Amino acid sequence: MQVNIALKKVVDNSYNITIDTLPKLHFDTKVAIVTNPKVAGLHLSYLLSKISAKELYIITVPDGEEYKNQESIDTILESLFNHRFNRKSLLIAFGGGVIGDMTGYASSIYQRGIDFIQVPTTLLSQVDASVGGKTGMNNSYGKNLIGAFHQPKAVYIDPLFLTTLPKREFGAGVAEIVKMAVTFNKSFFEFLERADLSNPDVLQDAIKQAVQTKADVVAQDEKEHGIRAALNYGHTFGHVIENETKYKKYLHGEAVAIGMVMANNTSVKMGIMSENEAQRIKQLLEKYNLPVSYSVEDTESFYETFYLDKKSSDSSITFILPVGLGGVEITDRCEKELLISVLNEFGEV
Ligand SMILES: NC(=O)c1ccc[n+]([C@@H]2O[C@H](COP(=O)([O-])OP(=O)(O)OC[C@H]3O[C@@H](n4cnc5c(N)ncnc54)[C@H](O)[C@@H]3O)[C@@H](O)[C@H]2O)c1
Ligand SMILES: [Zn+2]
Repeated sequence: MQVNIALKKVVDNSYNITIDTLPKLHFDTKVAIVTNPKVAGLHLSYLLSKISAKELYIITVPDGEEYKNQESIDTILESLFNHRFNRKSLLIAFGGGVIGDMTGYASSIYQRGIDFIQVPTTLLSQVDASVGGKTGMNNSYGKNLIGAFHQPKAVYIDPLFLTTLPKREFGAGVAEIVKMAVTFNKSFFEFLERADLSNPDVLQDAIKQAVQTKADVVAQDEKEHGIRAALNYGHTFGHVIENETKYKKYLHGEAVAIGMVMANNTSVKMGIMSENEAQRIKQLLEKYNLPVSYSVEDTESFYETFYLDKKSSDSSITFILPVGLGGVEITDRCEKELLISVLNEFGEV
């Protein structure tokens, strides 16, 4: 005997991303803003001047990647239970990618899933983390190993928040912007070469182009079965660098910047990128004071650490190699010898 559950349905998860001054928003439901003390201190009064709801609560969790964990998720969930949130209630993620990922994850599991909205406040979260519906948290086995795909109902990107962002954090966001331009959008890359991102209008335009580029990729491959993986350009190398430096020396975007340079050198050796193109990418990263060199002390151990990357399957490592500017190849067939020769060039800094 067999019973068939007919679940074939088309789900429309589409949503809009607004890149502009935050509009006034009213919600006829219970709403909780999830944030941290730093972001709240800087910008909560501005957010509250724009938002009204039937009932409005603020939930704060400690600031930092080290608090992107189960305890913070529990803090959020307990507050929702205490305030008797129901399935029509809404969460608003108000902060950088850490807050965005955790708020999204909490909303994906609270009563099997409620709606949430993203109001990202770092450049990295505005161009990358808030777009595409990846949510999650870290545990002792690694970063982002627990989570869900849960798309927000809307994203509101207000560049005004970036005026208080420290320079290094800004640069880390630029690294992810460069990542999208190099892999998918040559004209955007050329725009960035000419652009002065300290000009608010130019910055807003750059955010728009980055978000559009990522949105197009996500629309093609929401769950990362194929092309979306290309957005991990620079990350296979970058994760090793973060790991070797114990997540202390570099911000994530900075490690990705070095990782992109390493990936470019691999592409050059494989004959799919010219020296000149690799140089142009390096110069663009340097323009934002991003690190482009790194001292690989032990190439063998660097190579072994690739295998700790969760995006690798048992026997192969996936590399995202840019093909010229605006193209990309996803491959798990990259010769060890070739990689070691790339890493050897990073031996002395
Ligand atoms: N879901 C995704 O697709 C995706 C993509 C990329 C990154 N991420 C995740 O995003 C996280 C990194 O995000 P991040 O770089 O925004 O880090 P973050 O959230 O830790 O923010 C960086 C720092 O800036 C502070 N901050 C936030 N807004 C500020 C403002 N306007 N002015 C001054 N300070 C401000 C934060 O409190 C924090 O101290 C990682 O956990 C990463 O895994 C997720
Ligand atoms: Zn990244």
